[in-house]
Amino acid sequence: MNGFTVAIDGPAASGKGTISRAVAEAFGFAHLDTGLLYRAVGARVLEGVTPEDAARALVPEDLESDALRTPEVAQAASRVAAVPEVRAALVDFQRTFAARAGGAVLDGRDIGTVICPGAQVKLFVTASREVRARRRCAELQGKGHDVTLEEVLADVTARDARDMGRADAPLRAAADAVEIDTTDMKIADAVAAAVALIKAKRVDHS
Ligand code: CDP
Repeated sequence: MNGFTVAIDGPAASGKGTISRAVAEAFGFAHLDTGLLYRAVGARVLEGVTPEDAARALVPEDLESDALRTPEVAQAASRVAAVPEVRAALVDFQRTFAARAGGAVLDGRDIGTVICPGAQVKLFVTASREVRARRRCAELQGKGHDVTLEEVLADVTARDARDMGRADAPLRAAADAVEIDTTDMKIADAVAAAVALIKAKRVDHS
């Protein structure tokens, strides 16, 4: 089966990354966390490079650094993500990845709406802001970052506003996306729901 694409969008720490990794594992699809593209550009901007130059010079190896996971880089990412030239420079890489023969899952903010509007499966993963902040705080503290819940909540709130409010490719669900609200869900149940949906679509697609 060629070019089966799963698009998973949603706000920060909604569970989309965990669901995407599990789906990729279950079906043998390649996975691209597109947030890393914007984080890598944001990290270069913090070093003094212009957003446009950083986006044009991006190479896949830039996505591998653990330093991209900090709240400072997340804020820088959401600022560069509002720059149309930055978004435009990253489109081809994402679309090429999405079209790979063995199937692909991409997670981000605009995958179902802009990058892969023809994706066979579109999911929109949400959760309440408080639950997302608590999850992200535990994740960061688990990795040894010195953050408080208030700081993480402020980061998530600021990024939600910027990501939903920007003119170019704002965060929103595609009209044909299936929404999964993970606020009161165990992550295993959210993964199972996503896997079941994809299985059904794959039968239709084959
Ligand atoms: O992991 P988390 O959900 O916190 O963030 P991320 O997915 O790594 O994305 C970091 C930032 O990149 C977001 O706040 C967005 O501003 C931006 N982004 C975007 O604009 N479009 C995407 N497809 C992915 C991320």
